[in-house]
Amino acid sequence: MKSDTFSSTVQRAREAGLVIAAFGMVCAISGCERPPVESLQGGYRGLAMTTLINPRSDAAIAAKNQVPAVIPAASPDGPLASTVYSNVRVLKDLNVAEFTRVMLAMTQWVAPPDQSCSYCHTSDMSSDDKYTKVVARRMIQMVRHINTHWKDHVGKTGVTCYTCHRGNVVPQQVWFTDPGRSNTSGFIAGNAGQNAPAKSVGITSLPYDPFTHYLLTDDNTLRVISNDALPDGNRASTKSAEETYGLMIHISEALGVNCTYCHNTRSFAAWDASTPKRTTAYYGIRMVRDINTDYLVPLTPTFPAHRLGILGDVGKVNCATCHQGVFKPLYGESILKDYPELAGEMHHEPPPPAPPPTASLAH
Ligand code: HEC
Ligand code: HEC
Ligand code: HEC
Ligand code: HEC
Repeated sequence: MKSDTFSSTVQRAREAGLVIAAFGMVCAISGCERPPVESLQGGYRGLAMTTLINPRSDAAIAAKNQVPAVIPAASPDGPLASTVYSNVRVLKDLNVAEFTRVMLAMTQWVAPPDQSCSYCHTSDMSSDDKYTKVVARRMIQMVRHINTHWKDHVGKTGVTCYTCHRGNVVPQQVWFTDPGRSNTSGFIAGNAGQNAPAKSVGITSLPYDPFTHYLLTDDNTLRVISNDALPDGNRASTKSAEETYGLMIHISEALGVNCTYCHNTRSFAAWDASTPKRTTAYYGIRMVRDINTDYLVPLTPTFPAHRLGILGDVGKVNCATCHQGVFKPLYGESILKDYPELAGEMHHEPPPPAPPPTASLAH
C-alpha cells in the first residue's frame, strides 16, 4: 500500500514534470520566434538563395518608411512662374500653381517645421543669400536627372527629396571620407584603414571606408575574382578584396538583405548565376558615383564648414541614403507619381486660341 502510494506519487510528479517541460518547450519555441521568421526563395530551387524576413525587426524599419501626405495636384493653367518671379532659373517650365506646390512639398520634406519657407528664403524671395536655397536649386536638378537618366535603377518609382531627406535638413545616412583611426592594435604601424570594428561595414574589421574608392571614383578594382587559374591574370590585392567585401556588407545592410539576394555563392563573380537584382545594383553603384561626383562634390564650397567632414569634404550618398534598410526605398511606394513636377521638365502646350464669337452672341 505504502509503496503503491509512493509509486503513484512519483508517477504523478513525473507527469507534472513532463507537462511543465513540454510547456517550457512550447514557450521557448513560440516565445523566442514569434511572429515566425519567414524565408523567401530568390534563386533556383535547392540553391538556398533565400531572403529572411523577420516581422519583429522589420516593424521598426516599416515605421521609418511611411509616405507623407500628398499635396493636392496643381492646376495646369496659369502663367509660367518664370514670367511672374524674377529669379527662377531651374523650374522655368512650371506654372505658378505647380511652382508653389513644389515649394510647399520641399518645405514639408526638407525644412524644419519651425522655419518653413524661411529655411531657404529671406524676406526677399528672389534673393539667393541663403546657401540652403542654392543647394536646394541644385538638388532639384539632381532629382530630375536621377528620374530621367537613371531609370535603369529607379524605374518608374523614381525619387523625390523625401527619398533621402525624410523630413531632415541633412539625410540621416550620409558618409564622409574617413581619415583613419589612431592605432588600435597595439603595434607601432597604423591600422591601414581597417581592423577597427566599424558600423559602416557591419561591425566587422574590414576596411571601414569602402566608399571613397568605390562610390566616388570609377574604380574598377571592385572586381577581385580571377577569371583564370593563373595568379598573373589577377592584380587585385588582399586589401582591395577586403574593401569589396566591406562595400558588399554595406550594400546588404542598406537593403536589409543577405548576399544571396543578388549572388549565387557558388561564384560571386558569375553574372549568369546572379539574380536580376544584381544588375539593378550594378546601375545603382554607377548612379551613386554620378550623384556624388556631379552634384554633391561641386557643392562643397557652398556648404558652411560645420556641414563638412573632418577632411573638409561634403556629405555624400551611399545605398543607405535612399534605401534605409529596405530593398526598395519606402517599400517601392512611389511619391514621384504624385509629383510630375519633379519627374523631369514639364512641357506645357500653348493655350488653345480663344474661339471666335458666335453669330448669336455677336449682335
Ligand atoms: C528647401 C529650400 C526651399 C524652401 C523650403 C522654399 N523654397 Fe522657395 N525657392 C527655392 C529655390 C531653390 C527657388 C529657386 C527655384 C529656381 O531657380 O527654379 C525658390 C524660389 C521661390 C520663389 C520665386 C522667387 C523669385 O522672385 O524668383 C518664390 C515666390 C518662392 N520660392 C516661395 C516659397 C514659399 C512660399 C515657400 C514656403 C511655402 C518656399 N518658397 C520654400 C527653395 C526653397
Ligand atoms: C543588392 C545586390 C548585392 C548584394 C546583396 C551583394 N552583392 Fe556582391 N556584388 C553586387 C554587384 C552589382 C557586384 C559587381 C559590382 C561591379 O562590377 O561594379 C558585386 C560584386 C561582388 C564581388 C566581386 C566579384 C568579382 O567580379 O570579382 C564579390 C566578391 C561580392 N560581390 C561578394 C558579396 C558578398 C560576400 C555579399 C554579402 C555580404 C554580397 N556580395 C552582397 C551586388 C550585390
Ligand atoms: C540622393 C539623395 C538626396 C536627394 C534625393 C535630395 N538630397 Fe538634399 N542633400 C543630400 C545630401 C547627401 C545632403 C548633405 C550634404 C552635406 O551636409 O554635406 C543634402 C543637403 C541638402 C540641403 C542643405 C541642408 C543644410 O541644412 O545644410 C538642402 C537645402 C537640400 N539638401 C535640399 C534638397 C531638396 C529641396 C531636394 C529635392 C528637390 C533634395 N535635397 C533631394 C542628398 C539628397
Ligand atoms: C537616389 C536613391 C537611391 C540610391 C542612392 C540607391 N537606390 Fe537602389 N533603388 C532606388 C529606388 C527608387 C528603387 C526602386 C526601383 C523600382 O521600383 O523599380 C531601387 C531599387 C533597388 C534594387 C532592386 C530591388 C528589388 O527587389 O527589385 C536594388 C538591388 C538596389 N536598389 C540596390 C542599390 C544599391 C546596391 C545601391 C548603392 C550602390 C542603391 N540601390 C542606391 C533608389 C536608390
